[in-house]
Formats: sequence, structure tokens, C-alpha cells
Amino acid sequence: MTVNSEELISDAQAARENAFAPFSGFRVGAALLSKDGEIFTGCNVESATYGLTMCAERVAIFKAVSEGVSEFESIAVVTGAQRLTPPCGACRQVIWEMCGNVTVVLANLEGLRETFEMKDLLPEAFDRSFLA
Ligand code: THU
Repeated sequence: MTVNSEELISDAQAARENAFAPFSGFRVGAALLSKDGEIFTGCNVESATYGLTMCAERVAIFKAVSEGVSEFESIAVVTGAQRLTPPCGACRQVIWEMCGNVTVVLANLEGLRETFEMKDLLPEAFDRSFLA
């Protein structure tokens, strides 16, 4: 794969600029790399109902899946926080189900980075294999 994680982080950082976060003020960007090298980005989009808020990771994933893309390599998540921001529980479930054991790259604006394998972020995951 020719896309490196710094490129993916930079796309996630650009997507973060579009974050619609008037309630939390917490801006998040994500960039999802498909197996054939396409990148789908997302930002968090908040609702005044709070509960309808959509995280950046799921926006990126739903964009990709809705375009017919179903095989992925990695996802980068960028925030402006000092501590790196891991995906929330709902996003972990969706990343696992839609993307499998991808590489999850966390980054902030100060150059801090950490990389995980998805299986380590959601151990003993429930998925379609239990429905068989
Ligand atoms: N958020 C994300 O977009 N991704 C994460 O990984 C953590 C949280 C968003 C949801 C909400 O708009 C704001 O961050 C505060 O929770």
C-alpha cells in the first residue's frame, strides 16, 4: 500500500476542519483507507438532541460502505486534545463489523501518535459470526 499513516493522518486532520461540534467544541477527524488505496474522510456532526450526534469514524465508514467499498486497511483519528482520542464504544463495534481487524492510528495536532490493531480495542467482540 502506497498510502502511509502520515498521509492518512493529514487527511483526517483536514476533515476535522469540517467538524460540526457547536455543543461539545470537541472536533474530530477520521480518514479510512480502503484496500485498493481509496481514502474516505469524516468529521463529527453534532445534533441539538445530542443523541443523534455522529462520530467522525462512523461518518467515514458509512461514506465508504455507501459507495460500495467493503475492504479496508486502516483508519486514522485526529483530535486537538493532548491525550490521544480512542474510538468510542459504538465506533469500535462499527469499525470491527465493517472493517475487521484494521490498523487504528490515533494522532493529535502536537505530533503524538499511537497505533493499535482493532482486535485489541474490542476483545471478545460480538459480530455476524454469532448469528450463524
Ligand atoms: N467523537 C468522535 O467523533 N469520535 C471519537 O472517537 C470520540 C468522540 C465526537 C462525538 C462528539 O461530537 C464529540 O466527539 C464529543 O464526544
